[in-house]
Amino acid sequence: MKLTVVGGGSTYTPELVDGFARLRDTLPVEELVLMDPAQDRLDLVGGLARRILARQDHPGRITTTTDLDQAVDGADAVLLQLRVGGQAAREQDETWPLECGCVGQETTGAGGLAKALRTVPVVLDIADRVRRTNPHAWIIDFTNPVGIVTRALLRAGHKAVGLCNVAIGLQRKFAGLLGVEPPEVHLDHVGLNHLTWETGVRLGGPEGEDVLPGLLTRHGDRIAADLRLPRALLDRLGVVPSYYLRYYYAHDEVVRELGTKPSRAAEVAAMERELLTLYADPSLDGKPALLAERGGAYYSEAAVDLAAALLGGGGTPYQVVNTYNRGTLPFLPDDAVIEVQAAVGAKGASPLPVPSVDPLYAGLMANVTAYEDLALEAALHGGRTRVFRALLSHPLIGQYEYAEALTDRLIAHNREHLAWA
Ligand code: G6P
Ligand code: MN
Repeated sequence: MKLTVVGGGSTYTPELVDGFARLRDTLPVEELVLMDPAQDRLDLVGGLARRILARQDHPGRITTTTDLDQAVDGADAVLLQLRVGGQAAREQDETWPLECGCVGQETTGAGGLAKALRTVPVVLDIADRVRRTNPHAWIIDFTNPVGIVTRALLRAGHKAVGLCNVAIGLQRKFAGLLGVEPPEVHLDHVGLNHLTWETGVRLGGPEGEDVLPGLLTRHGDRIAADLRLPRALLDRLGVVPSYYLRYYYAHDEVVRELGTKPSRAAEVAAMERELLTLYADPSLDGKPALLAERGGAYYSEAAVDLAAALLGGGGTPYQVVNTYNRGTLPFLPDDAVIEVQAAVGAKGASPLPVPSVDPLYAGLMANVTAYEDLALEAALHGGRTRVFRALLSHPLIGQYEYAEALTDRLIAHNREHLAWA
């Protein structure tokens, strides 16, 4: 089996390679191609990747290339993990929205729209080239904003599934609190990427006993503290929101906090410099502890599981992925991309039925779906009016004065990445 990672020079790659090495029985990778436009990154990350496989006596080989067509030729799956403009562009996304009193975040709100506008055309171009060289390959998208990027890929007819680590992170956390093995825990996970709620926590599978009420009673303080939301809110909701919901439920509090500290992008950029220095050390042959401070914990497990299921070799039968709604959530359009449990196999992902959703969550999902639709229009066709419409539609923006000011800033800060600006 041959897998290709586009954005293979990312400092995250050792996490992925470590997963491939540990989970070789689930996914027997013969060749892993790291593709990246930056040769220096490829040299550093590729070197460490080879040492990780060698240390674990993994028979697979790592190749590196800056040539996309060569990278995807013969690949069974292509993993997309790129960041257009790097951490510097992310830093902008996290900064200028604050000038308007709005959250500055990688994927949520105006910063997330900027990221979508920079990213969608690049990803679609890559996907077209993948399809031309290799129409059978699955595209697994980690590239944010995953919901909008996956919607762009599916609309263009690509064989794509979107993936995020929020659900697997919560599965691991709840398993720890319950004292069971992670595969025992099945989450009733519903929403859009980075806008999800766990409405049930079942033991053994989708039909298992729901232990969420007891989990909240016993461990509510811990769960609330990790989310940085009040315990009383969790008790009232009776479900566990993802930490991205804090940007909604505590928006103004977050804006105040963000104004007083360096951006996450600046923190991550400093970590990346340190990581690259560590990767250059030829005696390092595993993923360094520092990598665990990034948000991508368990990415590799989720990726191995998904690739294994799509390529027909196994993996867990139900997985949380991003795919077309197609009636699963009847209050959303069929072509919305939702993040739910799905049965995954060689034909792709098909969502499990979801019981009726509380209007408290359904309303926000519908609003953000409409925003994602308008965001995709802006990303595909450009223009100030489309950017404004997407911003005005976002539940964290909503007022024309904010939308105008944010539109000006978004365009001014992203001109070099927007063909139409
Ligand atoms: C989580 C999210 C990812 C996001 C990451 C940010 O893993 O699911 O979509 O990219 O956090 O982590 P970072 O360390 O870059 O802030
Ligand atoms: Mn994510």
